[in-house]
Amino acid sequence: MIGEVSPRSARLARCSRIVAGMIVAVNAERITQSEHFSRTREAYDRLAPVWSATTDDGPYNGWLERPALRSSVPRPLTGLTVLDAGCGAGAQCEWLLSEGAEVIGVDLSAAMVAEAEARCAGRGRFFQADLAQPLDLAPRSVDGITSSLALHYLRDWQTPLRSFAEILRPGGWIVLSLDHPFAPALAGQHDDYFDTRLVSDTWTKADVEVTQHFWRRPLAAVMAEFAAAGFVIDAITEARPSSEALQRFPVELGPVSDVPTFIVYRLRSTITA
Ligand SMILES: C[S@@+](CC[C@H](N)C(=O)[O-])C[C@H]1O[C@@H](n2cnc3c(N)ncnc32)[C@H](O)[C@@H]1O
Repeated sequence: MIGEVSPRSARLARCSRIVAGMIVAVNAERITQSEHFSRTREAYDRLAPVWSATTDDGPYNGWLERPALRSSVPRPLTGLTVLDAGCGAGAQCEWLLSEGAEVIGVDLSAAMVAEAEARCAGRGRFFQADLAQPLDLAPRSVDGITSSLALHYLRDWQTPLRSFAEILRPGGWIVLSLDHPFAPALAGQHDDYFDTRLVSDTWTKADVEVTQHFWRRPLAAVMAEFAAAGFVIDAITEARPSSEALQRFPVELGPVSDVPTFIVYRLRSTITA
């Protein structure tokens, strides 16, 4: 759902499971976690030059997921410091800046970071970072965190969520979007809903085709991860296309107007002092 789905995705998609740190059976290959991250980074490095042009005004990101995410962000943001984790080419950072926030953007892909820096034209602070490692930011230095469609690239959520908990000021919030756990299975994939499983999808944006691998997990597992890192869920938004979006993209968004696609969680840190 994150990008354009080509018929190839049906052939490439395979369910996977993790055994002793090894990802098993991704397209009948064995790849390690570090290979998974290198492939993700390499794919996003290739997508970076076309990301803004293909997503800002695209049906799924620009017209469906981003409006849902932004409607969940507590406002006003003036004077607050907000981290965008997995910032991509900087669309969300630019929006946060326009709302008056001080912005920090991090991403696994150096090419995405460069795009985000250029897009924000000297405003904000950007650096390359892998969310699988604790972030190099001072404790209690940010008021809020947004993260749009990035966390599902990680199997382990406790490292990023505990890092977020540490850098948030007391009472801080996180607004993060993911594929909806009740979204229909991708074409050709076995829908073992209760398993945390690596799935793949192939997208073409402009002339760039990539096959991405990311984790789907059941709702209870998502909730358990948030709770274990000290967060409570403050609000949930399930993305639905607006009437304007449906008029603009009837072919793409019509079929998903009554189907779960993206989910946005607003979390509050339970640390109060
Ligand atoms: C679907 S894109 C979304 C980009 C941006 N948030 C947006 O909405 O346009 C996912 C982003 O997550 C980044 N990402 C994936 N794995 C990551 C990781 N382990 N650490 C940091 N960023 C990661 C990718 O490089 C990519 O830019």
